[in-house]
Amino acid sequence: MENVYAVKGNIIFTPDLGKYSIFENSYIIIENKSVKGVYEKLPEKFKDIIVKDYGNSLIIPGFVDLHLHAPQFANLGLGLDKELMPWLETYTFPEEKKYSDLVYAKKVYSSLIKELWKFGTTRSVIFATLHKESSKMLMDMFNISGLSAYVGKVNMDRNSPNFLIETTENSLKDTEEILIEYSNKYDLVKPIITPRFVPTCTEELMYGLGKLAEKYNTKIQSHLCENKDEIAFVKELHPRSKNYARVYYETGLLRQFSTCMAHCVHLKEDEIALMAKKKIFAVHCANSNNNLSSGIAPIRKLIDRGIPVALGSDISGGHSLSMINTMVSTAQVSNLNYAVKNRAEKPLNTAEIFYLATKGGGKFFGKVGSFEEGYEFDALIIDDSTLPIVKELTLEERLQKFIYTGDDRNIKIRYVAGKEVSEPTF
Ligand code: GUN
Ligand code: FE
Repeated sequence: MENVYAVKGNIIFTPDLGKYSIFENSYIIIENKSVKGVYEKLPEKFKDIIVKDYGNSLIIPGFVDLHLHAPQFANLGLGLDKELMPWLETYTFPEEKKYSDLVYAKKVYSSLIKELWKFGTTRSVIFATLHKESSKMLMDMFNISGLSAYVGKVNMDRNSPNFLIETTENSLKDTEEILIEYSNKYDLVKPIITPRFVPTCTEELMYGLGKLAEKYNTKIQSHLCENKDEIAFVKELHPRSKNYARVYYETGLLRQFSTCMAHCVHLKEDEIALMAKKKIFAVHCANSNNNLSSGIAPIRKLIDRGIPVALGSDISGGHSLSMINTMVSTAQVSNLNYAVKNRAEKPLNTAEIFYLATKGGGKFFGKVGSFEEGYEFDALIIDDSTLPIVKELTLEERLQKFIYTGDDRNIKIRYVAGKEVSEPTF
């Protein structure tokens, strides 16, 4: 049988929120790029296929980061002493200006992609900058790496510094050029429409982007209700809209199951109902919300209301690209939310957070983030033998131990869509 092989090890994934499927010392059979099945014993008809035996290692789905800013990788860990709006002006916009320079962009973007690889982030949804050429270059680089990504050339035509702004016309023209050139160019790397956020996008621009999304059937990403000053500014700019989310809705940017919104910290009831109805992904960015004093997002409530939820590192508002680091912060913030809201919202447990970091975000890509039949085989081989494990642990406990005390050194091998991906060599 051609294009069929198996991996063997201790398999853990979450087909449903908070529910582990665990197969000790078992096989995943992969045909072409997708999972054919998980078996405790290799079925007779597959007895001649190649088996990659990973011994006592854990085999888990690859991590999905649904929100990060590629150019801000240069600022990682820097300038985290301000709230959103002054943070953008002081640290972020001056850095993003530099990505008109392809040499500089290549240097930062190579380093970023290597780090994503290192941390086992097999799929990501990314803001580039408003610069067309370096945004295209980032897509080309991802394609070479073998990692999967949606990459967005950012749109911003108002309330931005004169060194980082574009005209409405050019913003739409450059975006459409990228959609024409890249929508079908690569399998695992796609363009995504990326209005930065309402404060930096005129209504005309947002409306035009909505039309482009429809014309090219493109996904959309932006920011929503991250910070109270930001929300007040949106109210000032759009007094006739009922709330922040309605501005996106009215300009055609909330596309059914195809838009993701980072943060969603301070949503009003109408916004929650709207996101639930349109199945808009809420991307929880716990590290960033902590670093920029944005607030605590009511993730349990959003999940209970039927909104698809995923996790985002949001670098460099967030200070770590590691999804296990992001998962731990998610747990801690969720516990705080429980404490400060008078125990009203039950904290998220490890299995639930693991789901958000795999299948929760994977849904944005299609059948990704699980080992159920038909899912694209994205996987990490985790060797936890170097962790200080001094008592007998279940597989579930070993996964939890890795999330809380492990790091990238425990990730030995990465698969994306059925292919083993080695360290990028740019
Ligand atoms: N809102 C608009 N732009 C940004 C950004 O770059 N980072 C974050 N965290 N929020 C934003
Ligand atoms: Fe962001």
